Amino acid sequence: MKVHGVELDDYEYMSDPSNNYNNAEAVQKTVASQGSQPPSMPPGGPYWTEDQLALFAKWRADGYQP
Ligand code: HEM
Repeated sequence: MKVHGVELDDYEYMSDPSNNYNNAEAVQKTVASQGSQPPSMPPGGPYWTEDQLALFAKWRADGYQP
């Protein structure tokens, strides 16, 4: 995803507070299903499990700890 400007493996990028955590928000949106639509990322899957989605949400809720 780096080539598209989304630095998934970069903690600073993923936890960047300067744009109201929009980087983390945007990633979360692509890996969660949109209503009846499957997630847009990764293309065609395999998609994140409920546990993985919950863990990412918890990481955000707990304050983006390293
Ligand atoms: C803000 C978040 C993201 C944006 C804007 C984004 C955007 C894109 C775009 C434009 C493409 C190329 C077009 C396509 O193949 O459909 C792509 C490909 C891909 N994305 Fe994402 N993506 C995001 C997050 C993610 C995440 C979180 C994952 C993995 C969990 C992921 C995995 C992939 C993979 C595997 C590809 C195909 C290979 C590649 O081009 O690197 N993406 N993404």
